[in-house]
Amino acid sequence: MYIVAVIAEKGGVGKTTIALALAVGAVLDKKRVAVIDTDPQATASKWTDRREHEFPWVVPTHAARLRTAIEQAKGQGIEFLVIDTPPHAGTDAAEAARLADAVLIPIEPHLFTLETLPKLGDLLKIAGNPPAFVVVNKAATQGKEAKQAADHVRALGLPVCPVIIHQRAAHRHAGNVGQAAAEFEPGGKAAQEAISLYTYTMQLLNKGKKTHGQAKPARARA
Ligand SMILES: Nc1ncnc2c1ncn2[C@@H]1O[C@H](COP(=O)(O)OP(=O)(O)OP(=O)(O)O)[C@@H](O)[C@H]1O
Ligand SMILES: [Mg+2]
Repeated sequence: MYIVAVIAEKGGVGKTTIALALAVGAVLDKKRVAVIDTDPQATASKWTDRREHEFPWVVPTHAARLRTAIEQAKGQGIEFLVIDTPPHAGTDAAEAARLADAVLIPIEPHLFTLETLPKLGDLLKIAGNPPAFVVVNKAATQGKEAKQAADHVRALGLPVCPVIIHQRAAHRHAGNVGQAAAEFEPGGKAAQEAISLYTYTMQLLNKGKKTHGQAKPARARA
């Protein structure tokens, strides 16, 4: 089982949108998928109430019982698990990062978000430096802001996902009906970007090779 945590300091940068886009990408890839929703706002949990498909399962869980929830998901044959976290990345986000095979950090491409990244870097250290990368989300479809933001992130020493997620209405419209963009508008630009993000994430996970449930974990875990 692969575990991906989505964390960020800022609210509203797209953590849940990206968590659900990844989860739906894995569903379309024929995997058994679950989302653990550790956010008291329960955005992902409410999304699944509007949804008509069995997967992904969405499990609201307090971060304090994350390990138990992960074990239960493993026991139920889940192959791809996404952990959505609340804003103001704190101990809950650190626990999610500690237990994950990969950590995605969505940012919006402007300084208000970028200046929160050093704190995220510290949090990743506390979590044992899991494989992590920043995803530029809500980028304008014109102009250079996404590239400038990516350069800024690299200068801070954090890896940046080559797939940029642009500001596209399909993400919002999909969420309203319990879908992700890849289902709402298959083949559309938002869908293509979301699937590319899933593919990139899977490549990274496969490069790490070892997954939860196998004999040797990819890195030492607390
Ligand atoms: N790429 C995008 N294009 C258009 N709208 C987007 C995009 N990403 C996110 N949104 C919209 O931005 C809003 C906030 O997104 P989301 O709820 O995913 O953020 P969040 O980081 O999970 O927020 P919170 O910190 O409150 O949990 C939602 O209305 C969502 O539909
Ligand atoms: Mg959210």
